[in-house]
Amino acid sequence: MAIIEKLHVARFRNLNDQYLEPNKNINLILGSNGQGKTNFIESIYYLGHSRSFKTKNIKDVIPFEKDLIQINAIIDGEKVTLSKSKSKSTIVIGTEKITSNSLLSQHLPTQIISPDRGFIVGGSPKLKRSYLDWGVFHDNKEVLKTYKSYNKTLKNINAILTGNNQNQLEEWFSKFAFLSVEITQARINYIQKLTQILGESPLLSLKSFVDSTKSLEFKLQTGWVKEVDSLNQNEIKKYLQNNKSSFIKTKHLGYGPHRASIDFYLSKKNEGFLSRGEQKKLSIVFWMLQVLVLAKDNSDPVVLIDDISSELDQEKINSILDFLTNLNIQIFITDIGNKDLPLDPKKTNIYLIKNGVITSV
Ligand SMILES: Nc1ncnc2c1ncn2[C@@H]1O[C@H](COP(=O)(O)OP(=O)(O)OP(=O)(O)O)[C@@H](O)[C@H]1O
Ligand SMILES: [Mg+2]
Repeated sequence: MAIIEKLHVARFRNLNDQYLEPNKNINLILGSNGQGKTNFIESIYYLGHSRSFKTKNIKDVIPFEKDLIQINAIIDGEKVTLSKSKSKSTIVIGTEKITSNSLLSQHLPTQIISPDRGFIVGGSPKLKRSYLDWGVFHDNKEVLKTYKSYNKTLKNINAILTGNNQNQLEEWFSKFAFLSVEITQARINYIQKLTQILGESPLLSLKSFVDSTKSLEFKLQTGWVKEVDSLNQNEIKKYLQNNKSSFIKTKHLGYGPHRASIDFYLSKKNEGFLSRGEQKKLSIVFWMLQVLVLAKDNSDPVVLIDDISSELDQEKINSILDFLTNLNIQIFITDIGNKDLPLDPKKTNIYLIKNGVITSV
């Protein structure tokens, strides 16, 4: 259960010492273009990940003429502070300094919907993997170690493929095959969970998103060629050994879970045939299913939606808000404010943002 009880964006892009006591349900931040709406959403995301969804460069988020960012919050009764400069990063939860970003994201899981990040349906395999693995990780924290070893192993293999000495390649292939099966299995389990929930609950309050006469399916592309059973270590190992010379030629390993993706189908039609509108709708259904899986597990994420009405019509906005408030999820939404959003005043805080200054309405 993640609820931000207090938030102090001390330094982040154009936000300077902004204090909020957010509603535990809906928080709506209204402002015209260029005032800091996306920056505000990004600051909460940053607090949960120690990185941005918009840029890899810390320089971009440090306020002009300052040398660090700082965000503090009380989340589920515990103080969390993050400060970061070009050379130093300090994260404290409670009284403990932490060095692992995964602990941070366990404390503040966030699901983000933002035009700056893009829609998963019709999106790039990289974006798909990132949302998929977000869910896999929050569903099964153990798997993080596997991902880390996998990435290290892949790096070693690629280094060997580029070098002159291939002696140890087979050992690394064995390790790679083992870790690959673990990751693929974790992803399959997670997708099965999502599919099961989709079948169980017709997501009643999301009815404007899912036409019940149409079937929605997600299929994992494991990153292996069809002939290889992606859950069979020996087959993978054999495949790698048999194709060793072609990997040496290309100097990298182009197969495996790091090349995985998900394919979406609506009534058996592949996502490529769907309209942009349909792709957006299905993306949101997928994201909400991910939220639902976590909520069922009592580790509710905070949901961040940037620029809500530029992306969705009134009926869909209502559906999402209904769905999330029924689950008691904390939401931060930004909007330009030219549409009436029918929000329950008891469950909503409204803020205005102008030039980076946030005021409560
Ligand atoms: N590192 C930074 N330091 C100070 N100001 C910054 C920094 N990075 C961006 N800004 C400022 O933040 C403003 C943009 O903020 P933001 O993207 O949050 O606007 P927005 O309210 O989301 O606008 P839109 O409605 O167009 O999406 C710009 O004016 C930009 O100059
Ligand atoms: Mg914006």
